[in-house]
Amino acid sequence: MSKHSGIVVVGSLNADIVLSVAQIAAPGHTVLADGFDIVLGGKGANQAVAAARFGAKVSMLGKLGVDAHAESFRSAMKDEGIDDTAVIADASCATGQAFIQVAADGQNAIVVAAGANGRVSVADIDAAWPMLARAAWVICQMEIPLATVNHLLARAAAEKLRVLLNPSPICFDASWQGWTQASMLVVNEHEAAALSGIVVKDPKSGLEAACWLVSRLQKSAAVAVVTLGEQGLCVAEMQPSTKAGSAVSRHVPAHAVSAIDTTAAGDTFTGVLAAALAEGLAMDDAIGWAQRAAGWCVQHRGAMPSIPRRTQLVNPRSG
Ligand code: RIB
Repeated sequence: MSKHSGIVVVGSLNADIVLSVAQIAAPGHTVLADGFDIVLGGKGANQAVAAARFGAKVSMLGKLGVDAHAESFRSAMKDEGIDDTAVIADASCATGQAFIQVAADGQNAIVVAAGANGRVSVADIDAAWPMLARAAWVICQMEIPLATVNHLLARAAAEKLRVLLNPSPICFDASWQGWTQASMLVVNEHEAAALSGIVVKDPKSGLEAACWLVSRLQKSAAVAVVTLGEQGLCVAEMQPSTKAGSAVSRHVPAHAVSAIDTTAAGDTFTGVLAAALAEGLAMDDAIGWAQRAAGWCVQHRGAMPSIPRRTQLVNPRSG
């Protein structure tokens, strides 16, 4: 079976109900939205679209209901050139939905009703294994059952398949060790803290967390990226030549942008990073593209509608 240079995204597909509010509702309060919109999203689907719009060959594994949202997803994946043969229709439940408040300052708060995403099973992973086994990179997040994620990580590790894990949202406790089987981690400051116990608030603590995380990954050529929003990101790489227990790490500043909606910024970063690495780009170049893409995303509204095509980005090497 030949290896291909593509990406397989294992994860969620949600219809996003987006509510524009002056401020995110506090507990016990009711707020009036300035408006609402329904767009396609879900961390898995967003990452698949980000990789495809960057130019990668992308397949998706997930579950949809049998409803109008599912039809919208089918047609969107066709338009994006994403192979959806491993996206299963499950008539027993609805397509996942996310209820997203977006505040005037661009911050958001999201509640997800998993729907069909909650039915992605270990058997689904095994049934699609021939496709997964050919991928340059498999990407996974946490909007599908934890047991399914654990199985994917364990089987991939046993069969030397590279998984980029974006452990988002945080639906695990500090005792969870499945993440250590990933080849690469992309985490924001909250996810980094949940996994490492290190309070991440700036580049110094970000570097500390990235080094701690990469040192726990079992792969010899592991990478941990801790994203810090407008403070940039920290990356730690454990190279096979590196002395055991030490990592090469650096802080990469962000480009200044004016954010109006941060929804899907992390997904855009993750999808583009995997696509650029699958293309054979060096880590620093791949990170540069992923940062540009996430910067573009936060200047546009919605999840999928805010994900750029490669042609809309400036090449990081040209300034
Ligand atoms: O990361 C953004 C995504 O989180 C949204 O599209 C929403 O569906 C939730 O999954």
